Parts: sequence; C-alpha cells; structure tokens
Amino acid sequence: MIIAIDGPAAAGKGTLAKRIATALNLPYLDTGILYRATAKRVLEAGQDPDDVQAALAAAQALGAEDLKRTDLRDAATSKAASQVASIPQVRQALLDFQRHFGNSHGAVLDGRDIGTIIFPHADVKLFVTASVEARAERRYKEFLAKGEAVGLAEVIADVHARDEADRTRAAAPLMMAMDAELIDTTSMDASTAFARALEVIRKKTSR
Ligand code: DC
Repeated sequence: MIIAIDGPAAAGKGTLAKRIATALNLPYLDTGILYRATAKRVLEAGQDPDDVQAALAAAQALGAEDLKRTDLRDAATSKAASQVASIPQVRQALLDFQRHFGNSHGAVLDGRDIGTIIFPHADVKLFVTASVEARAERRYKEFLAKGEAVGLAEVIADVHARDEADRTRAAAPLMMAMDAELIDTTSMDASTAFARALEVIRKKTSR
C-alpha cells in the first residue's frame, strides 16, 4: 500500500503522514529530508547549491547517517534545499531511493511530487494545503518554541518564496495530482485532518 501525501511547506503533511503511518503500521518517509540533506552536504563543502555537478555529487553520496541528522531545518538549509530540488539531475538521483523505499514494504511518503512523479499509481493520494498565513503562523510558532528569533513578516515572505520556487520550477513542480483528495487544513486541527484522511483511505482501500 502506497499513500502519497503532497502539498506546500508547513501545510501539516508531516504530522498527518506520521499519524497515518503509525495507524496503518506502514513505514514513513519524509522525502524533503533527501533534498535537505543534499543541500547540507553542498553547504558544508562550501559549494553553491545551484551548481549542478556539486549538488548531484552530494545527492549521490547520501547515506543513512545524512538522513538521521537533526540540523536540517534552519533557514539556510531550507533555501538551499529548494535550490537543489529544482535540479532535474538531483531529482533523478533521488528517485530510485524513494521508489525502492515504497516498494519494499509499502509506505506513507510525503513531499511535493509523490503522487505525480514518484508513485503515480499510489493507492491513495492526498494533497494537503492551507492558506499562506496559516502555514506561516505555524512555522513562526515552531521557531518561537525552539527559541529562534524571527519575525512573522519574515516567515510569511519565506513561505511565499518557497511556494513560488516549488510551484514554478520546470522539474517536477508542486501540483495536485488529478486523482488526489484535497485536504485544506487552514481551519482544521491535526486530529480533524487525520480523521478526514482516514475516511479517504477507507473509501479508496479496504483498510
Ligand atoms: O518538505 P520540506 O520543506 O522538508 O522540503 C524541502 C525542500 O525540498 C522544499 O523546497 C521542497 C523540496 N522537495 C521537493 O522538491 N520534492 C519533494 N518530494 C520533497 C521536497
């Protein structure tokens, strides 16, 4: 069973995907981590995230340890992740890993192109979104909780910029698959979104 969850940054995909994976006893893959870890390697080597060869080499060199890192969510890595994610060769290099992960035991995967490119025949496709303001406010609260000093206006601008980059890039842009179910979490709490997702999963499968 493959459950594909796509949507823009801070829409609640990760929280929802983890809950679904636990409930259905499926492995979970946050595919954003692959782009973040690639970006981190490039930055740490003092290279440019727009440099195709550097980014490709970093993607090809990823190992299990890279994916366990807990320092991949800062602003610089987020920006660089968006840059390396726009490089077709990087996306191609990460494709087999994602397919292999899902095909081994089934999985819940979240990202931007899971239902459109990675698993176009996924059993269930959810497109999780929310207004820019709602998503920026959630990110802002996460930063505050971690004690990071950022302004709300800055976070809104950052969410806008990443949306724009993810939606308009030529390679695998963020878009809703034709057969995905839309879940708008603007005024939904995590439990309501989870209940809605389970309804969709039950409707599409026998679980
Ligand atoms: O979901 P996230 O914020 O951790 O993703 C980090 C970056 O990687 C973001 O700019 C979008 C990109 N990404 C992607 O292009 N395709 C995916 N399947 C997952 C993430």
